[in-house]
Amino acid sequence: MANLQVSVAGIELKNPLITASGTCGYGRELAELFDLSLLGGISVKGTTLQPRAGNPTPRIAETASGMLNSVGLQNPGIDRVIATEIPFLRRFNTAIIINIAGHSVEDYRAVAARLEGEAGVAGIEVNISCPNVSGGGMAFGVDPAVAAEVISAVRGATRLPLIAKLSPNVTDIVAIAAAVKEAGCDAVSLINTLHGMVIDVEKRAPLLANKFGGLSGPAVKPIALRMVWQVYEAVDIPIIGLGGISSAEDAIEFIMAGASAFQIGSASFHDPQAAPRIIEQLDDWLDAHGVSAIGELVGAAH
Ligand code: FUM
Repeated sequence: MANLQVSVAGIELKNPLITASGTCGYGRELAELFDLSLLGGISVKGTTLQPRAGNPTPRIAETASGMLNSVGLQNPGIDRVIATEIPFLRRFNTAIIINIAGHSVEDYRAVAARLEGEAGVAGIEVNISCPNVSGGGMAFGVDPAVAAEVISAVRGATRLPLIAKLSPNVTDIVAIAAAVKEAGCDAVSLINTLHGMVIDVEKRAPLLANKFGGLSGPAVKPIALRMVWQVYEAVDIPIIGLGGISSAEDAIEFIMAGASAFQIGSASFHDPQAAPRIIEQLDDWLDAHGVSAIGELVGAAH
């Protein structure tokens, strides 16, 4: 058995697999299918100060090699998450990462402040990359100065480890990663979804009610890998890689590109057992290749 333990941003993970925000809710559905204690960590749905109903439907569309979502940050709000969802997740031996989002810098600061001292929370993933909301979300993640402003406000509100979740909808991912590092972030996760659309040709109209959505799944993997590679080469900050991972080999590509840990998202929709399967495959792959610790592979392709 290889050593799968990793440490990212000061968060100790028993293995490098984290379920990606927005693809596992607050863990309740996956917990009916497998023991969440198998996971390195879980990053919960983007959580805002107030509850949000999300965008009108349809808000999911299939595409070749991927899916589009325009959920619009539906969530029960931070108070409910603290009252019921975090206590539920505390039952499991896995790192609880709270993904937070907001309409304003003050929103982000306030949500982070509510989490300070909350038992069992391992870290905060700051979502500055949701493409599906009219104010906030991705708007905070496409300009280095604005991204830094959000991270700096959140940094001032909490001592918890901070992970900035970056948008691929930018011309220079390195500039954003450098800015959030400078502002006090401990790690970056990349990539969130790519902004896209689907047309319903019978209706002669966009399929999603919100017209545009975020593309995820195998289609985005080469782009995500390229961005992980670029950030690893240019910015000295731990990276959590995500985008289209559905096998251990996919995950190892991200690790060799420079990620210390990885997230799986869309894969769980077509295979709800994807997380435990990939953890097992990862162990087998390392054994078969004579690698004693996953950490040895970080950045190995450079
Ligand atoms: O629409 C959504 O809730 C998506 C969120 C995200 O991509 O971060």
